[in-house]
Amino acid sequence: MVSNNVILIGFMGVGKTSLGKKIARNLDLEFIDTDEIIEKQQGKTIAQIFEEEGEEYFRRLEFDLIQSYKREKTAKAKPKVISVGGGLPVYNNLMKDLNQLGTTLYLQRPAKELFNRLVNAKDKRPLVMRLNEEELLSYIEETLLNREAFYNQAKFIVDRNHQEVKTILDLLKQS
Ligand code: S3P
Repeated sequence: MVSNNVILIGFMGVGKTSLGKKIARNLDLEFIDTDEIIEKQQGKTIAQIFEEEGEEYFRRLEFDLIQSYKREKTAKAKPKVISVGGGLPVYNNLMKDLNQLGTTLYLQRPAKELFNRLVNAKDKRPLVMRLNEEELLSYIEETLLNREAFYNQAKFIVDRNHQEVKTILDLLKQS
């Protein structure tokens, strides 16, 4: 039913992975999470990579991974559902690459809601793991504002009331 990769982007904690897995199951496609692939490749957690090698190194790994998917696409590999780390579209011009790689969907939620979802799920996320609640909320508000310029370049923007498999499948039919 889909001939192109499906790419989910959005802030940490928005729900890219859980929705991505459901879409992939529904379409009978492989599901990929860039963080998970990088952890496997490096034999380290994302937090360890940030700590030992630094953020710039991690962004390079994200860049290299997207280049490898672009090569696969050129080689006409079967489409996949790809969930990308929250910061990936923002660095190294990758939003442009993502739009070439597949149909991009920006999963959007208000900052306060992201805060509620992240407050108990920040331990594995190096950029927020050491922030207290007040710092976390300001970090989300500020970072979201900066990142939206990139996220909004997605082909589809899906607000929180439409983040379900059926709506996404309807959008993919139009693409
Ligand atoms: C990051 C988001 C994380 C992970 C890393 C950095 C970011 O992915 O790639 O901790 O810069 O927003 P999730 O969006 O899957 O949490």
